[in-house]
Amino acid sequence: MRKKIAAANWKMNLAWHEGQQLLETIVRNNPTVLAGKEVLIAVPFPYLMEAVIKVKDIEGIAIAAQNCHHKESGAYTGEVSASMLASIGISYCIIGHSERREYQKETNEQLAQKMKLCFQQGITPIFCCGEPLAIREAEQQNDFVKKQLEESLFLLDPAHLAKVIVAYEPIWAIGTGRTASAQQAQEMHAHLRAVIATRSGKEVADSVSILYGGSVKGANAQEIFSGKDVDGGLVGGASLVATEFQSIINAL
Ligand code: PGA
Repeated sequence: MRKKIAAANWKMNLAWHEGQQLLETIVRNNPTVLAGKEVLIAVPFPYLMEAVIKVKDIEGIAIAAQNCHHKESGAYTGEVSASMLASIGISYCIIGHSERREYQKETNEQLAQKMKLCFQQGITPIFCCGEPLAIREAEQQNDFVKKQLEESLFLLDPAHLAKVIVAYEPIWAIGTGRTASAQQAQEMHAHLRAVIATRSGKEVADSVSILYGGSVKGANAQEIFSGKDVDGGLVGGASLVATEFQSIINAL
């Protein structure tokens, strides 16, 4: 049975003393996370080591990185490799967030490379996909995300594909306060699962957790998560507020 996941993405927010408090609150309020559920918290690079220590005794809470480089190692000043992340105990990494695709011009090919390196290091990628507004308005979203999957996710070994976490994040819903409706989310998640099934079979497709991201908050989480193919959320803004993120965890 696939996991239900509440994943926080702090992006480039919070000083460490603020992040520390937020993490401590999350840990205090979730001394145990029910079996089959998982809370992931993607923090900025400088906080990773301390953050890992803070959650180490809590089954069901793990720290994630927000990115890694697509090369194994070498002269890439300012970059962080998958093996470095693994060496400090990180086991999840967001790959291909739309902000990185847009501002860092990350390509599907690079994202495939990043995921491959993650798996070599025992890190589970949280692979992001999703369409911009113009594509949604032209009703081309299904083909658009299918292509994103085909050009990156489908380059993985079939055994690895079965272990990936997918996050569907329509770009028009990220940080805008405008969420996809529960029906739009469910329709796209069912589509993504069908696309994965054509590649790897129904059993694999049914085992992949597919998260929704884009203006998820305490007030709408339960409705969005009610779709049968929606396995939780990847949450930006609302994950910075302990009470909001807690409601989202509870909505799982
Ligand atoms: P948001 O961001 O919840 O602030 O819309 C989601 C994300 O970018 O992962």
